[in-house]
Amino acid sequence: MAVKVAVAGLDIGTSRVVAAVARSAAPGRSPVVGACPSLGVRKGVVVDVDGVARAVRQAVDLAARAAGVRVDAVHVGFSGQGVNVLTRRAEVPLGPQGRVTAGDVADALQMLRCADVPPGRIVLQVLPVEFSLDGVPFKGNPVGRRCSRLVLEARVITADSQLVERLIEGVTKAGLKAVEVIPGPVVAAEGVLRAAEKELGAALVDMGGGTTAVALFKGGALRDMAVIPVGGDHITADLAIGLRTSLGEAEEIKRGLGLEPRAGAGLAGEKGRDAGGVPVRAGTPFLAGDGLQAAGQIVAFRVQEILELVRETLGRLAGGPELPGGVVLCGGGSLLRGLAERAPGVLGLPVRVAQDPDVQAACWLARRAVKRAGLEGRRRQGIAAGIFAAFIT
Ligand SMILES: Nc1ncnc2c1ncn2[C@@H]1O[C@H](COP(=O)(O)OP(=O)(O)OP(=O)(O)O)[C@@H](O)[C@H]1O
Ligand SMILES: [Mg+2]
Repeated sequence: MAVKVAVAGLDIGTSRVVAAVARSAAPGRSPVVGACPSLGVRKGVVVDVDGVARAVRQAVDLAARAAGVRVDAVHVGFSGQGVNVLTRRAEVPLGPQGRVTAGDVADALQMLRCADVPPGRIVLQVLPVEFSLDGVPFKGNPVGRRCSRLVLEARVITADSQLVERLIEGVTKAGLKAVEVIPGPVVAAEGVLRAAEKELGAALVDMGGGTTAVALFKGGALRDMAVIPVGGDHITADLAIGLRTSLGEAEEIKRGLGLEPRAGAGLAGEKGRDAGGVPVRAGTPFLAGDGLQAAGQIVAFRVQEILELVRETLGRLAGGPELPGGVVLCGGGSLLRGLAERAPGVLGLPVRVAQDPDVQAACWLARRAVKRAGLEGRRRQGIAAGIFAAFIT
């Protein structure tokens, strides 16, 4: 029997590469995921293309095998390092008897995709915000509406072209085609943030290994984003240095200890036993008494720093810091125990953690791939895909 060919979602992170294959674009159906440690990425930026290629191949093979498909193309997500968000308008004159067609909308999007950007930068994505018909704002699908002048306001996501080229090179060396490259936090927000949160004002904070990305939404659309070059791996490194232990052991201690004082207390006096989810090596001295307290302080100190940086970033991004919809945490770093309880006090905002936060970006990229494939199929069959084809940009 012929093996089905699928397009996968692929999130290339600093600590992990996650591939996902979706059978359906529906949010309720979880894609099949394959993940492996990342190679060649530092603070969200590719520093070794061959390393990235090896990790990508491994993650994609894992997901493809588990899903029983062959993957030859991927939608690529990354931390968002080097990205910025511009607001741009495109105008399409339709004449006095004009009526908006899907072609006019596609023309407006194309104008924005080819918009002037500074040297060394490229347009990754154009996200429509709203149309105006003869100067009157119009939300939704304008196809079929009468007007003589169509204006589309959109957010144009641009990125450092060298960073994007290196990502694409890594994917190509892994024998795959990169269909598109987009910031993981922006695509994760598609699924993680509720419509009401996006409308009121909310932020998705993606705490990765080497970065913490902040994507701010208001009026139903992305307003701005920024990437802080500090993430969960910094907590691990601090622990390794402070406790004079290996990174592997520091990682296990971090996951077991978290920010919960009770988890820490559980470790004390239980040397040599598996306490609080932390495999404790027999006789490891630092897991009791002063050492344990030091570990708790190290974690708390770095988390405080990251949260303060997030708060400062929210304050300077367009649309912040008034966010009635609050903050939604995702990324592997948001799995830190006690973080959801600690974050509201520092951020001064309501906080919740997304479901399956560590695989959200790859899963939404995979759903996007399915949606795209469906539209392509309909286009090939000659069925007008209408406005939605234009909106998946
Ligand atoms: N249970 C857990 N408790 C605490 N931290 C965790 C847990 N699970 C994963 N992490 C941390 O999550 C981080 C990795 O998250 P993620 O996979 O989202 O990063 P990434 O996408 O590879 O990196 P980036 O987005 O910065 O490029 C690591 O620092 C890891 O230690
Ligand atoms: Mg990430």
